Amino acid sequence: MNKFAIVPGSFDPITAGHYDVIRRAAAIFDHVTVAILVNSEKSGTFRPEHRLEAVNTAIRELEKDGFKNVDARTFHGLTVDAAREVGASFIVKGLRNSADFDYEFGMAEITRRFDHEIETVFIPSSPEYMHVSSTYVREILKYGKGDSGAFAPGTEELIKEFYGKKV
Ligand code: PNS
Repeated sequence: MNKFAIVPGSFDPITAGHYDVIRRAAAIFDHVTVAILVNSEKSGTFRPEHRLEAVNTAIRELEKDGFKNVDARTFHGLTVDAAREVGASFIVKGLRNSADFDYEFGMAEITRRFDHEIETVFIPSSPEYMHVSSTYVREILKYGKGDSGAFAPGTEELIKEFYGKKV
């Protein structure tokens, strides 16, 4: 049986921490779809098409690194439905700290309630990314601070350009 996973998130924007989790998921599963969840009630900072383009740029870096089993799509609605839509049996989430754990444990329980055949798998954050978040990247951009290590490989210039075009 092919092991097919989604890595869901807002990716507003993708960070180095997301990249690390996607890369490690790609090493475990046969195929990984990065699911960019667009919330109709919360517009986010970056436009969905810009978030997707930044994720696709990071995926091209993964391909250079030998991982050719990753793609990305935007979805509206529930994570569990995104998994079903692409035929994934696994939802992969990165965990940085106990707050992530508390939130994701609840999400995993809800997912199981909706579809007991979809398993949630947690990947612990690498120590260097424990404090990296999309919120942090947006703060860097807002205040013009530099921290290239927070951006997913290949995405810094693009994300800076998109930040200037945000809605
Ligand atoms: O990158 P984030 O913001 O931590 O991602 C959170 C996300 C988008 C994965 C999460 O909020 C989510 O799954 N949203 C979709 C709505 C959903 O499935 N809710 C489940 C409870 S009903």
